[in-house]
Amino acid sequence: MTPIFLFFLLSSIFTVEAQQGQSIVKPGSILTPTTNSSWLSPSGLYAFGFFKQGNGYAVGVFLAGIPQKTVVWTANRDNPPVSAQVTLNFTSDGRLVLQSAQDTETSVANFDPASSASMLDTGNFVVYNSSNQSIWESFQHPTDTLLPTQRLLADDFVVLKSSVSESNQSTGRFRAVMQQDGYVALYPVGTNLTLEYGYWSTDSSVPNGNLNLDDQGFLYVTNSIFNLTVSPARNSTNGTVLYRLRMEDDGFLRLYSYNPQEQNGGWSIIWSPLNKTDVNICTPRGLCGVSAFCVPAGNDINCTCLPGFVFIDESKRTLGCERNSTTENCDEKGMNTTMEEVPDIIWENVTYSQSLLSTKQDCDDACLQDCSCEAALFNDRVCGKQKLPLRFVNFKIPNIDSNATLAFIKVRTPTPSSDGNVTKKIIIVSLVAFAFIVLAISGIAIYRSQEAILEEWSYRCFECGELGKLVNDEEVEMKKLERMVKVAFWCILHDPALRPSMKKVLLMLEGTANVPIPPNPNSVSQCDQGFGKNE
Ligand SMILES: *[C@@H]1O[C@H](CO)[C@@H](O)[C@H](O)[C@H]1NC(C)=O
Ligand SMILES: *[C@@H]1O[C@H](CO)[C@@H](O)[C@H](O)[C@H]1NC(C)=O
Ligand SMILES: *[C@@H]1O[C@H](CO)[C@@H](O)[C@H](O)[C@H]1NC(C)=O
Ligand SMILES: *[C@@H]1O[C@H](CO)[C@@H](O)[C@H](O)[C@H]1NC(C)=O
Ligand SMILES: *[C@@H]1O[C@H](CO)[C@@H](O)[C@H](O)[C@H]1NC(C)=O
Ligand SMILES: *[C@@H]1O[C@H](CO)[C@@H](O)[C@H](O)[C@H]1NC(C)=O
Ligand SMILES: *[C@@H]1O[C@H](CO)[C@@H](O)[C@H](O)[C@H]1NC(C)=O
Ligand SMILES: *[C@@H]1O[C@H](CO)[C@@H](O)[C@H](O)[C@H]1NC(C)=O
Ligand SMILES: *[C@@H]1O[C@H](CO)[C@@H](O)[C@H](O)[C@H]1NC(C)=O
Ligand SMILES: *[C@@H]1O[C@H](CO)[C@@H](O)[C@H](O)[C@H]1NC(C)=O
Ligand SMILES: *[C@@H]1O[C@H](CO)[C@@H](O)[C@H](O)[C@H]1NC(C)=O
Ligand SMILES: *[C@@H]1O[C@H](CO)[C@@H](O)[C@H](O)[C@H]1NC(C)=O
Repeated sequence: MTPIFLFFLLSSIFTVEAQQGQSIVKPGSILTPTTNSSWLSPSGLYAFGFFKQGNGYAVGVFLAGIPQKTVVWTANRDNPPVSAQVTLNFTSDGRLVLQSAQDTETSVANFDPASSASMLDTGNFVVYNSSNQSIWESFQHPTDTLLPTQRLLADDFVVLKSSVSESNQSTGRFRAVMQQDGYVALYPVGTNLTLEYGYWSTDSSVPNGNLNLDDQGFLYVTNSIFNLTVSPARNSTNGTVLYRLRMEDDGFLRLYSYNPQEQNGGWSIIWSPLNKTDVNICTPRGLCGVSAFCVPAGNDINCTCLPGFVFIDESKRTLGCERNSTTENCDEKGMNTTMEEVPDIIWENVTYSQSLLSTKQDCDDACLQDCSCEAALFNDRVCGKQKLPLRFVNFKIPNIDSNATLAFIKVRTPTPSSDGNVTKKIIIVSLVAFAFIVLAISGIAIYRSQEAILEEWSYRCFECGELGKLVNDEEVEMKKLERMVKVAFWCILHDPALRPSMKKVLLMLEGTANVPIPPNPNSVSQCDQGFGKNE
């Protein structure tokens, strides 16, 4: 579409606006994804209704009067897309529901019985009661976009949350918050609103302020007494230029303009508090998922796993990383366990144990000697020991993260040439474990039973979820009993290679390590037959 044509299109749109008032939708109205798919605002600029999403449709508000149909609000954004067979009903009892072919109903928005609704030219979809009072507005339930005349109140929960991607409006990883303390700030989703997690904020605050975007594209915070400029003011454009502020999937907040009179049309970025050209593209915390950090690679990011970690899914690197699965949970024989400093990196400070230690070497040692410790943060003699997963692994952000904090990760590498000894040890250890555990179980069993071959019988009880029989259905902690029994079966396996190490046995009994379902020692199995059953 040529710019000239676009100009005339928009001019005509604005003319229509002047001539018509509101376009009112009444109960009984219906939309479907394929025919009559939306209700337009008077000028035709905005529409409320169905738009394409993934392999189906979503309901929301979008710019219909420009070639790039830009979504600005999405209903039930985290629900899967709906099929072409649904209808959107404004029911006679004043509800707005999605009705599927199978007759299941999903509410599009929750409000008291409504008498009418209207898609306004501001982009606000408003629902009214019988007294013509507004009872619900899409402007009060923002998703990722703020439009001119829409305001974000000082509320830590009504925030702009990024979408997963341009084509998937589900909740993504980042949010922009107009905080109750009067600062506007950016955070990952799922954290407390504290300095540790924020990656940008305004320099000053306006207590009880609202974030406003006016129709000149000027972004400011005001509490009716003070004004705080967030984006630089610009010259009046007499309402011909469109603006939108969007929290984006890459963690950047951006203000866009669209001038239909300009040659090349399209949305252009006119302001961002984080500007990719002078701020690290990796600044938003948590871009690469758990136990991984972001490294700039030109205009794109390159996710990198912490030492000793591999991608959870090589094809979806932003999901994060996990321990190389061939290593054990704890310091295993045959493994060389060391602490590795990860320079200039920081991650979420959630510690399970904290102590005052004088040097970083002491902190290293403390983690190394603690089986549960996977990582450590050391700052000003405070050594915090941590477990996995490590969230928000990031290069330190200047002026926000303390450059004095040191980050360490436990790394295990196999030591060559220790196999023979290890196998021998494992056999001895399993024999000891076997002795202990069989002793324990036979103690119980002999005492309680007159029963049958112990091993076979107990496996059958286990398999059939009737472990209570082992202790004559007396009140015991079934979880503990089950764990003990499972460990016992592992220890008495015929093939020594399958038996766990003593250390592992202790960890399993303790509950620190998971006990997998043991294989059946006899490989005959039927729950509803034989002597396992009640007579
Ligand atoms: C679309 O809606 C209008 C008015 O509600 C109606 O007259 C028209 O028949 C509908 N079109 C289709 C294809 O359903
Ligand atoms: C929604 O509209 C469809 C199509 O007209 C109709 O079959 C269905 O009964 C309506 N559902 C409600 C709850 O009004
Ligand atoms: C978040 O704040 C709550 C309440 O202050 C606190 O209990 C919780 O531990 C905090 N969570 C994190 C991850 O800091
Ligand atoms: C704040 O700035 C906006 C936009 O320029 C203006 O409309 C408003 O009157 C100002 N408010 C105060 C209290 O200065
Ligand atoms: C506003 O317009 C004046 C005069 O055309 C120009 O000198 C000035 O640079 C403009 N300011 C901005 C922020 O665009
Ligand atoms: C805006 O409108 C006023 C009054 O209608 C006019 O004087 C002014 O030149 C217009 N400015 C622009 C940038 O179109
Ligand atoms: C980003 O910064 C560069 C250089 O500082 C500047 O030229 C550009 O206009 C800025 N972009 C935005 C969107 O602010
Ligand atoms: C991404 O990082 C890996 C190492 O972590 C490196 O081998 C690779 O070349 C990097 N890719 C780009 C495009 O920079
Ligand atoms: C995972 O561990 C195995 C053996 O412990 C080692 O051979 C392999 O190189 C490791 N892989 C990665 C990606 O570190
Ligand atoms: C363990 O690894 C560290 C660092 O890679 C190395 O200095 C040390 O010699 C290794 N120890 C053994 C016993 O292999
Ligand atoms: C982690 O948090 C604790 C308490 O919240 C604090 O004492 C400690 O200094 C912090 N550690 C680092 C490295 O910032
Ligand atoms: C931290 O940064 C300051 C200022 O840039 C510098 O003087 C100091 O040496 C740095 N400290 C460390 C531990 O790197």
